[in-house]
Amino acid sequence: MQMPRVPSPRGSIEPKIFTSEELEREAQRLFQSIGQRERWDMRICRAISPLTLEINELKKEKNVFLIAHSYQTPDIVYGVADSVSDSYTLSKAARDAPEETILFSSVRFMAETAKIVSPHKTILHPSPEAGCSLSDGITPEDVIELRKKYPGVPVACYINTTAAVKAECDVCVTSSNYLRICERLPGDRLIFVPDRFMGKHVQKHLLGKKEVIVFDGECEVHAEFTGDKVISWRNRMASHGVDLQVLSHPECDSGVLEESDFVGSSELLMKEAMRLASEGKPDIMLITECGTAERILAESEDEINLLGACVMCRHMKRTQLEDILQALRDPSPEQIIEIDDSVIKRASKSLDEMFRLAE
Ligand code: 13P
Ligand code: SF4
Repeated sequence: MQMPRVPSPRGSIEPKIFTSEELEREAQRLFQSIGQRERWDMRICRAISPLTLEINELKKEKNVFLIAHSYQTPDIVYGVADSVSDSYTLSKAARDAPEETILFSSVRFMAETAKIVSPHKTILHPSPEAGCSLSDGITPEDVIELRKKYPGVPVACYINTTAAVKAECDVCVTSSNYLRICERLPGDRLIFVPDRFMGKHVQKHLLGKKEVIVFDGECEVHAEFTGDKVISWRNRMASHGVDLQVLSHPECDSGVLEESDFVGSSELLMKEAMRLASEGKPDIMLITECGTAERILAESEDEINLLGACVMCRHMKRTQLEDILQALRDPSPEQIIEIDDSVIKRASKSLDEMFRLAE
């Protein structure tokens, strides 16, 4: 699989001075834990070691819990994060962390979610401009309009939405629980926002049981994949006697999902790929953002042959170690998540309902 370029430090921040022994030890630690010896070589590990050392020092000093989404780069995931997973697990991690300050290395809506589930904590978000095509593609007014058009119909919103949109919905869902939660909602109709591909998957799953009204947003990353590409890879590999396992994220279109052997969240895709490899099925086509592939390469104990091409999310990749360090040293007002109390109160009902129905 063709992997993305390794980010080099921008040089936007003056690192603290450490001894050469400290730096070499840290570079070795990074080299081992990132586990991709050619792309993340000792030269790059040495270059980032002053940043990871200072971030880890500041985390301890200021009692900060650092959460990173799976799509963050390996220097963040293996260098400084305390918890790495999919959006569902990370919202629980933010809610349950005993630390009073959480730094969320990810896109804005995830950091906002952390604030909604733990309003008394300080939530730092190093890249305030890191958006998401799904969350940026729907407004609270869009939901209000849908409610007027379909009075009394429950609204399920994907977690990839702003706090203000969550406040207008009845329940949140994530890529690891959307089918289960939508199935459990009362009534025979349901509004699903904002992802049209995931919404279509819900429609198919509930066919004959519920009518599902779907909004028309999409993830710009997962929309790149097509069912035809999957079929051509499968046929090509089959002609070489390879039994290709296709794993995809539910933000992909139905052509891809129909061709997939497994559909799941970033965390579930990683676990499934590692399970298949451990059972002697190492040839895997992974249809999602590149971060999941990076995690599989670092964490699998078995040989895995990842085929096809991943796509990088430009929003997720905005955050670099330097942004994290700067936010820990002296956060700007934009790097501290603030949400109106009344929005938090209403949005937290949607998230509480998700936790209740997902478990
Ligand atoms: P996960 O919950 O699967 O990590 O998905 C979040 C996301 O933004 C995927 O594009
Ligand atoms: Fe949003 Fe897609 Fe990026 Fe996930 S991968 S953050 S859904 S744009």
